[in-house]
Amino acid sequence: MTACDLGLVGLGTMGANLARNLADHRISVALHDPAPGTAARLAGELAGRGQAAPSLADLVGALKAPRTIFLMVPAGAAVDQSVDALLPLLTVGDAIVDGGNSLYMDTERRVETCAAHGVDFLGFGLSGGAEGARHGPSIMAGGGPSVGRLAPMFRAIAAQAEGEACFAHVGPGGAGHFVKMLHNGIEYALMQLIAESYQLMHGMLGLSPAEMAAVFRTWAGGDLGGFLIEAAARVLATPDVDTGRPLIDLIEDRAGQKGTGRWAASATLDYGVAAPTLAEAVHARCLSALKPERVAAQTALGSPMRFFAGDRTAFVADLGAALLAANVAVHAQGFATLAAASAEKGWALDLGQIARIWRGGCIIRSRLLAAIAAAYGRNADLANLLRDPDVWAIVAPRDPAWRRIVGAAVAHGVPAPAFASALSYVDAYRTGRLWANMIEGQRDLFGAHGFGRVDRPGRFHADWAKS
Ligand code: 6PG
Repeated sequence: MTACDLGLVGLGTMGANLARNLADHRISVALHDPAPGTAARLAGELAGRGQAAPSLADLVGALKAPRTIFLMVPAGAAVDQSVDALLPLLTVGDAIVDGGNSLYMDTERRVETCAAHGVDFLGFGLSGGAEGARHGPSIMAGGGPSVGRLAPMFRAIAAQAEGEACFAHVGPGGAGHFVKMLHNGIEYALMQLIAESYQLMHGMLGLSPAEMAAVFRTWAGGDLGGFLIEAAARVLATPDVDTGRPLIDLIEDRAGQKGTGRWAASATLDYGVAAPTLAEAVHARCLSALKPERVAAQTALGSPMRFFAGDRTAFVADLGAALLAANVAVHAQGFATLAAASAEKGWALDLGQIARIWRGGCIIRSRLLAAIAAAYGRNADLANLLRDPDVWAIVAPRDPAWRRIVGAAVAHGVPAPAFASALSYVDAYRTGRLWANMIEGQRDLFGAHGFGRVDRPGRFHADWAKS
């Protein structure tokens, strides 16, 4: 049997689909999975391009040198266990690639551990879910020298956007997983904005799922076009197979989370970046999880939600405008976080390149990303996405509609934290003199922390009024 190009460990839905995608591109894979029979079944399906490996030693033995083992195992302990088991079997120059949603700091630790054995540990962020793995994910490759050797293989299996492969070596160490984590932070915020749009149309206007599906379909055909808007239309259009009722009405209003959105929000704080909407999206999922408490509170305190008596068509038009403007603000927050982490870690992330590889294959792919890629193409050192004239030209005309939506949501008691926080972010970002002088005054009053003055250099204390 000829030696395989790549070893794949973990043949769940994602891993198996990745193997099928690799095989389609004439890349031969040695396959290993702890569940007996799984690798053999998949190898049979891949007809000559897959070879089952009953043990990790068999897997390593089946590979061309330098060997590459791609891990598609759950993030956390399973990655460490795989690395521990593989290291004694590998030699200098071999590589282990982690394609899961690992925490970037874990990736950095594993890079060190493997480097001590001469093995290159690479963290690849993959986005696109099961479909993406099968037909072309967006791949955010992070790590050292082996990325160059592996690039042709992964470029071949990646999604395409405007003729360009959605694959990039984004940076060293944990950079690939950091970029994927921020992708997911943005994903959470965009999903929250969509969920709020749904609730505003449903709770305030009383639109039916079919009517809302039509709205999302119209939006998907315009400037808002993107995978998540299409996904929302599909969710709203799907009937329950048992009852025939709209499935959305039967789904429990409690959102799960596996951690990447929370990690992203926490990274924005670690790097001191204002990204309130990324955090709001996580808070919103946490609030949603309090189902019994919310139901009890509604009984005890009453729901603030009121019906809307105004022009419904105009409201939906405003909502679409607000959603696009808020989407821009969310990307501005995400890219600002990437820029700050890049500067602190010395990663030299190319933000334009990241926007380009997010145009296809990944969950947040949308028309807006082409405009974002163009903005960073014009100026790679943009202080903030909002400062690009073409990007601002998307937000500025929608500003009045956005305020009307947030105002109406507040007035009608419909919680819309992502819409509101994104608007506050943009308002604060373009306010030359903010409220922080009051905070500085209080800090000096109770803690003698000192403050800067607008009229002279240096640090000052004041003898504050006694009452
Ligand atoms: C992707 C997705 C994928 C996964 C998220 C969902 O880019 O393909 O982001 O990674 O769907 O982990 O995360 P939650 O389960 O936390 O919503």
